Amino acid sequence: MCGIVGYVGKRTAQDVLLNGLKRLEYRGYDSAGIATLDDEDNPHLARSVGKISDLEQVISEKPHTGHMGIGHTRWATHGGVTVSNAHPHNVGNIFLVHNGIIENYKELKAKLSNYDFRSDTDTEVLAALIDSNYKGDVSLKDAVAKSLKDVRGTYGIAVFSPKEPGTIVAARLGSPLIIGLGHDETIIASDASALLGYTREAIYLNDGELAVCNSNGSEVFNLNLKHLNSHPEEIEGNLEQIQKGGYDHFLLKEIMEQATTLPNTLSGRIDVENGKMHLGGPNLTAEEMRNIHHVVIVGCGTAYYAGLLASYYMEQLIPDVTTEVVIASEYRYRSFHLPKDSVALIVSQSGETADTLACLREIKKRGVKTLGIVNVVGSTIAREVNGGTYVHAGPEISVASTKAFTAQVVTMLMFAGMIAEYHGGNPDLIHSFTRELSILPAEIEKTLNDHRSEIEQLAKKYASFDDALYLGRDTAYPIALEGALKLKEISYIHAEGYASGELKHGPIALIDDRFFEVFTILDNWLFDKSIGGLHEVRARGGKVIVLTNSTADIEADDIVRINSNVKLLAPILINTLQQLFAYYVAVERGNDVDQPRNLAKSVTVE
Ligand code: G6P
Repeated sequence: MCGIVGYVGKRTAQDVLLNGLKRLEYRGYDSAGIATLDDEDNPHLARSVGKISDLEQVISEKPHTGHMGIGHTRWATHGGVTVSNAHPHNVGNIFLVHNGIIENYKELKAKLSNYDFRSDTDTEVLAALIDSNYKGDVSLKDAVAKSLKDVRGTYGIAVFSPKEPGTIVAARLGSPLIIGLGHDETIIASDASALLGYTREAIYLNDGELAVCNSNGSEVFNLNLKHLNSHPEEIEGNLEQIQKGGYDHFLLKEIMEQATTLPNTLSGRIDVENGKMHLGGPNLTAEEMRNIHHVVIVGCGTAYYAGLLASYYMEQLIPDVTTEVVIASEYRYRSFHLPKDSVALIVSQSGETADTLACLREIKKRGVKTLGIVNVVGSTIAREVNGGTYVHAGPEISVASTKAFTAQVVTMLMFAGMIAEYHGGNPDLIHSFTRELSILPAEIEKTLNDHRSEIEQLAKKYASFDDALYLGRDTAYPIALEGALKLKEISYIHAEGYASGELKHGPIALIDDRFFEVFTILDNWLFDKSIGGLHEVRARGGKVIVLTNSTADIEADDIVRINSNVKLLAPILINTLQQLFAYYVAVERGNDVDQPRNLAKSVTVE
């Protein structure tokens, strides 16, 4: 969602801001802008709807020359996608960019009736509020702190004023901000990827903190202006990881690189010889592991489906533990009860998803241990959980989540494998899972390479359909849901995932010329039942693509057969082909693959 970049230092601010905003493009946005202060302390503002390239066009007519400024990519919440609603907002002496939502903006606006508002945004109201407090000898820092005390809602903000050149004030509550500390330069960003290549040292602001930044660094305060000790940390990642590396799209790169990122997920966590799995991050004693009898898995979107697939594996590995998977946006408002012997797995690629974060806080209030299954190092969820494990998939730039799904499933599987040892889990099964995990990266590579052009051809054949039904049962069911999500996200084809055992309870009525079906049929004890479902669909004229690891004769319009040494984890392999299929369908339809319409990478508001 919205992105923030701020810069004060020796470089031309405009270049750093635009470069940073481009790095944040993947989060999803619909307009963008920058405000800078030139060396004579004159402010300059440029905003546009559309892409950063549109903003660059606007700026090229009148380049900004100064060495400090703020920039923003906006994902509309209050007010339509217009230039006047785009950030930065300027009111009086204040220039402000804001991520989050000011919930009481109407109330505040009513009290600021002497201002002539030019946008429909909550952010402009906050800028006016700060300006109203920024009078006489009051410093920008004091005015921001005073104003934020009157605000209800969430924010990550960066503010400057021509009255205090060289200073940017940043603050956060519920929306991430990182202050990168360079040599004679300071960069503020809502996402560490904007800092790469400038500095590796950064302060992660906590909720309720405010930072006063200048080219020499940053000082951190609470809203009562008490000075706080801040501890710079090293940021992860490198520039190469956030570039396309020769691929046409980040999505294709991220699908194809699963074979190389997965070893990072597995590294040091599986012992194939002894058939053991171990995660250090949860930091659980043997007794704590023995005491777990309930696991709740919380996530949104792809993270939720990763949890669902992992729950099937957990039930096999730790049959005496109840496993429940919940959608965060629902769970946060339910009157849920968790037994004391529960552990909550909080699953999130970004570590910033608002609903998932809210669940984490609700669960903590109930005294239940929370463990993060998170990709982005240093993210809010990673910082707030009691323990947890980074999935180490590396930066995922494309909005649709792919490699993170695989890494999340594998990490939760290793969690279950570790717990299984303390619950008398079947050692042979633990061994089989461990063995399959160890060869999974190579099997993914082989599967993707063997079937890439076949999937590309299939995508061309089915790209003009309006609707798709994804079907599967047992571990192929979460895969059906995830396959359908991937297709709808990037191709805009209406796609639904269904448990194939549910066909007769509704979806079979849909089958007609507008639809095609993607049916995952696994070579397992439910094979015959899956084939039964396939016949039901074909008998009604359904056009079916079967994805399978079986060698048996199967009648379908198209069959993709994977030949793999992994059996238990075959759904993960098949899912990588579904990812490729969605990718090629989206390309065929001429869509913006990496930044699909209306979607954001990191949904930081409800
Ligand atoms: C958004 C993204 C999805 C992602 C979901 C959860 O909808 O577009 O790709 O699966 O959020 O995000 P998280 O960062 O919590 O995994």
